[in-house]
Amino acid sequence: MARTEPRYVCQACGAAVPRWAGRCDACGAWNTIVEESPRQAAPKGLGAGRGRALAFAALDDPGEAVRRRETKIAELDRVFGGGLVAGSAVLLAGDPGIGKSTLLLQAAAALARLGTVCAYISGEEGIDQIRMRAHRIGLADAPVRLAAGTSVRDILTSLEGGAPADVVVVDSIQTMYLDSLDSAPGTVAQVRASAHELIRFAKRTGAILLLVGHVTKEGQIAGPRVLEHMVDTVLYFEGERSHQFRIVRAIKNRYGPTDEIGVFEMTGTGLAEVPDPSALFLNPERGPVSGAAVFAGIEGSRPMLLEIQALVAGAPPGSPRRTVVGWDAGRLAMVLAVLEARAGVALSGSDVYLNVAGGLRIGEPAADLAVAAALVSSLSDVPLGEETVVFGEIGLAGEVRPVAQTAARLKEAAKLGFTRALAPPAGRTAGAGVGAEPGIAVHEIARVSELVELIAPVPNAAQGERP
Ligand code: TYD
Ligand code: MG
Repeated sequence: MARTEPRYVCQACGAAVPRWAGRCDACGAWNTIVEESPRQAAPKGLGAGRGRALAFAALDDPGEAVRRRETKIAELDRVFGGGLVAGSAVLLAGDPGIGKSTLLLQAAAALARLGTVCAYISGEEGIDQIRMRAHRIGLADAPVRLAAGTSVRDILTSLEGGAPADVVVVDSIQTMYLDSLDSAPGTVAQVRASAHELIRFAKRTGAILLLVGHVTKEGQIAGPRVLEHMVDTVLYFEGERSHQFRIVRAIKNRYGPTDEIGVFEMTGTGLAEVPDPSALFLNPERGPVSGAAVFAGIEGSRPMLLEIQALVAGAPPGSPRRTVVGWDAGRLAMVLAVLEARAGVALSGSDVYLNVAGGLRIGEPAADLAVAAALVSSLSDVPLGEETVVFGEIGLAGEVRPVAQTAARLKEAAKLGFTRALAPPAGRTAGAGVGAEPGIAVHEIARVSELVELIAPVPNAAQGERP
């Protein structure tokens, strides 16, 4: 027998709960639990009627080639995987004030100048405000069609009626609403339903949809997570407010790579591309200070050198502080534990501050060894040497593991004048030619204890008793 009692479902994560609550226990979202009718909750199965047969195709069918529209903003096109794909939906998420509206206005203007019909619909700003911004960044002459509006019905009517567009920017999805729903704009139900209608429109007409989404303090896209599943591409626009650099990062991309980044610099006249960012975040005036290590990283297809700064300070009694900017706090905890357990470096009683200089966020485990080097250098007050780069992943047993693209990392470091690299041993997995980069000597580090030995050879310098 079908259930008849009501059922409650979280609209953010889909968890079913027996009774209504203000907060979903499964995902922690507030005000997302709604009652679903028993009929909805317990579908009766397919019943009689027959469906339409699907046409199966071969995997190697040439099919229709993906058509891409380039913005000619190279930093953006790369993140998209070579341009925007017709009929696709893109979500650009980021903190308020980070520059999302500016970036998409620049993209729309660039496309419009290339002859693409672009509509920019704002639910947050008036037309005059957008015009003023366009004027300030020198885009006032671009033939972008501006509109202010928040009703999805009005927007679709305009786009399907007399004013079709190839590219539609909707800023932001949190301000949009469907009049067929009771809930207020910005609620989970509205965000989801509005996005659904707009995406359906894009798929139907082949228009490219660019949605702006705000993120909450916790760093999640406000509204249901399901928004990420609905769109083809999710981009995050990130950067420290106090720094001028901004990164566009693909988190999900059905039409391209997900590890590429686009680097921009904020200027008075809008976002400027940074085509060669590898040394951007390095301070040219770096002196021989302890607690700093230059990490030879890879972001997408490009090498990038970053300075990792650590400060280890004696802690007052009580639990020590751990403050991390630009890296994962869990990963830092792991490196600290491995240093302590496998190399006898006593850090558990000290305050530890870790910072990736320049405002970039690193996701690569290859930064482990550079973090460890910065920590040991700070603790022992021994500078690492300005000509040294570091990379390698650290395992729980204290081993240093090989990482991908070693050759590219070494090559970039050599190009920028570095002469020494602390790197994992060139094992069979690391590929041929490793360590053969002219101009840079590779010092192989197989275990974290070797790193400690190298930086602070005097046992007392690292304050720990090594077993
Ligand atoms: P805005 O694009 O409005 O951010 P968001 O849409 O993410 O909330 O930009 C925020 C402010 O920063 C705005 O006042 C314009 C300013 N700004 C610049 O002056 N130069 C720039 O390059 C960018 C991106 C923004
Ligand atoms: Mg905005």
